[in-house]
Amino acid sequence: MLDQGQAPPLASESPRPLNPLLRRKPVEQLVSEGGQGEGGALKRSLTMWQLTMISIGATLGTGIFVVLGEATPIAGPAVWIAFIVAGLTALFSALSYAELAGSIPVSGSSYSYAYATMGELIAWVCGWCLVLEYGVSVAAVAVGWGQYLNELLDGTLGITIPQGFSAPLGEGGYINMPALVVVLLCMVFLLRGTKESARINSIMVGIKIVTLVIFIVIGFMGIKAGNYTPLAPLGVTAIGTAASMLFFSYIGFDAASTAGEEAKNPKRDLPRAIMLSLLIVTALYCLVAVVAVGAMPWQDFEGSEAALAQIMENVTGNAFWSVVLAAGAVVAIASVVFAVLYGQTRILFAMARDGLMPKAFAKVDEKTGTPKANTIIVCLFCGLLAAFIPLGELANATSIGTLFAFGLVNVAVVILRYTRPDMNRTFKVALFPATPIVGFILCAYLMLTLPGITWLVFGGWMAVGLVIYFFYGMRRSSLATVAAVTALVAEAAEQK
Ligand code: ALA
Repeated sequence: MLDQGQAPPLASESPRPLNPLLRRKPVEQLVSEGGQGEGGALKRSLTMWQLTMISIGATLGTGIFVVLGEATPIAGPAVWIAFIVAGLTALFSALSYAELAGSIPVSGSSYSYAYATMGELIAWVCGWCLVLEYGVSVAAVAVGWGQYLNELLDGTLGITIPQGFSAPLGEGGYINMPALVVVLLCMVFLLRGTKESARINSIMVGIKIVTLVIFIVIGFMGIKAGNYTPLAPLGVTAIGTAASMLFFSYIGFDAASTAGEEAKNPKRDLPRAIMLSLLIVTALYCLVAVVAVGAMPWQDFEGSEAALAQIMENVTGNAFWSVVLAAGAVVAIASVVFAVLYGQTRILFAMARDGLMPKAFAKVDEKTGTPKANTIIVCLFCGLLAAFIPLGELANATSIGTLFAFGLVNVAVVILRYTRPDMNRTFKVALFPATPIVGFILCAYLMLTLPGITWLVFGGWMAVGLVIYFFYGMRRSSLATVAAVTALVAEAAEQK
């Protein structure tokens, strides 16, 4: 039997190869299944602005509030150039995302694009990388949230959460309560429905943008020209190292592409939302970085846990402003947790509909039009991961997984242009095929700059993913079901 809402294979596609690893899902089938889940459909309610806010929500957070402080002692005053280099890598891939999101507007994002172009095995690998990009990173970001919360509590009430309840076992505590609480709060809001979630997300995004604008204005007043020279005291290679570190701050711009089945006009709005969010985020990053290194000597960033808050206090001489910044950071990082959790649930939704994940992830709640069980499972899993497990190297592997997925999206654009030149594309990558090729090379370059231990962890993660695929997904794939039914029908016809 075909799954509910599943369209039959279309004649416009070439027949699927028999090899299960190479079987592809036709673009038209992916699109026609859009929105359909087990027992109901997702609701289309998101506007272009709300999609843009989802991408900004998932992107702007720890990278600018925390990682900037760690990257500045590496790159020196040229840290803003490192932001541009990392941003360019994101930009080339964003163009590819925009083209594919406009042509295949479904919830699975790069997983679905890979399924349509490179076959099931690569699609699974891509989906498994997305779990690293979304699921594991959200746990890591939630852990960082607790640190800023402590700073805010300290600055306002003069109290902090004791170490035992703000760090996991192995890191001097028993449980990271703030991390668990922020994930559970997000779960409560996500369960209220997509429209409601988008509203809450937009408010949080507004607050974090205003916080960064306040920082830019105040920090600008403290700029000293001498802080900008020498521009690259530690050399050009150091800028590259800082860029691969700062790439983390761009992770999430693709989140709008996980909302393809809930957007009002996905073909038109998804490409716009992806490009607009990247533009806004890059502009903010560069302005904040230029102001930060102008207002505080780059050497002083070493060991400063909350550099931006410190700059606010230095410039104004008033601790109030550093509390404002800490409050902004608490909201900013919470909104990353919120938007990334949203993205993770939708990717798993698409994978479950295809049979590669348990069907529970594709169940839609009739009342709210959201994947309720999926949201609860994902949030509990990420919350417990953040609360009890020292994520360490696994969190560091987030960027490599993301870069791998981005690299595949660049390849998918090229394949689809050649295999389906006839398709209606609402957005086309300029200077094809040079742009996606450069995008792919940049992703590969940044991957190569990551340390050996990150590669080892990534290899381990992939090995676990492949075992799951071969023992679970390969047999339960809905395409395998279709192939089995087709074979039975053919056999029956032959016997007649
Ligand atoms: N880009 C996201 C952040 O910086 C993951 O928090």
